[in-house]
Amino acid sequence: MVKVLGIMGSPRRDGNSEILLSRALEGAAAAGAEVKRIRLAGLNISGCTECNDCYEDGSCSTADDMDRVYAALEWADRILLSSPIFFMGLPSQTKAMVDRTQRYWALKYVLHKPFPRLPEAPPRYGSFIGVGATKGKRLFDGAILTLRYFFDAIGAEPREDLYLLIRKVDEKGEIMERAAELDAAYKMGKALAKL
Ligand SMILES: Cc1cc2nc3c(=O)[nH]c(=O)nc-3n(C[C@H](O)[C@H](O)[C@H](O)COP(=O)(O)O)c2cc1C
Repeated sequence: MVKVLGIMGSPRRDGNSEILLSRALEGAAAAGAEVKRIRLAGLNISGCTECNDCYEDGSCSTADDMDRVYAALEWADRILLSSPIFFMGLPSQTKAMVDRTQRYWALKYVLHKPFPRLPEAPPRYGSFIGVGATKGKRLFDGAILTLRYFFDAIGAEPREDLYLLIRKVDEKGEIMERAAELDAAYKMGKALAKL
């Protein structure tokens, strides 16, 4: 059974990205996946301090709720982040989580060790649901670039072909009026689980 982790990147509970994430996880579950969800805004996650302790053995010496995210990331075969765009990038809560995966970057590029997984684990893929209020062509460019490096650090292939990027949603829950996009989220979750 493939394991799908949904990471809720918005500080706004029951907002557009959370609704879309729920649809995607429903799709993944319908495809037979085991599903877990983590809400970053409810956790206490400090930023990376670049102490470089992780260069020694790949572990992080900052003790906080990121331990729960590390465990979930190591559990998952598919990582699906759902997040709004804030100032053309990821919200600070989500970016803090990304920065704290520096320990896996160090494991890969400093210590030349594989991501901690069982040898029989299925291939690992990453996907993204992004929402924003405006319609700018480059609205998601910053987030996509960050996620390319995030997924690389955690040993997951970014599946940009499955990314769902939704413009012109702003009010809380406004996405409920967009049936086609809710359906696209469901299908994306299903496809991610089936890869
Ligand atoms: C601090 C802040 C910054 C934002 N920056 C942008 C932005 O740069 N571009 C944009 O299109 N929308 C921006 N928005 C709007 C959100 O992306 C939009 O309201 C989104 O639907 C929120 O998703 P949520 O309901 O999942 O929290 C911003 C909102 C906030 C609160």
